[in-house]
Amino acid sequence: MQVQLQPMGWVVDNADGLSVLAAAEAAGITLPSSCRNGTCRTCICQMTAGAVRYLVEWPGVSADEKAAGWILPCVAVPLGDLQLQVPAARRPSRSD
Ligand code: FES
Repeated sequence: MQVQLQPMGWVVDNADGLSVLAAAEAAGITLPSSCRNGTCRTCICQMTAGAVRYLVEWPGVSADEKAAGWILPCVAVPLGDLQLQVPAARRPSRSD
């Protein structure tokens, strides 16, 4: 499965059933985060394509927000390819 991060167009492979946040970090990409347990909403971002399941029973997004595509990447696991809007994503430049 692949997660595409817009507007940069970066693509993260997520073959291990990791959360979106963990998969991005494994690929060297930093997304906004704080609690990492679906509570604080620091990581909230909009999913424009795809679907997710949650690692916690009560992630901190309302039904209306879910319907509008808002997800919490720290506790969301892709069910297929995803496209997310994460303008705050950062990929620290490498020295090599
Ligand atoms: S980091 Fe707190 S809800 Fe995702």
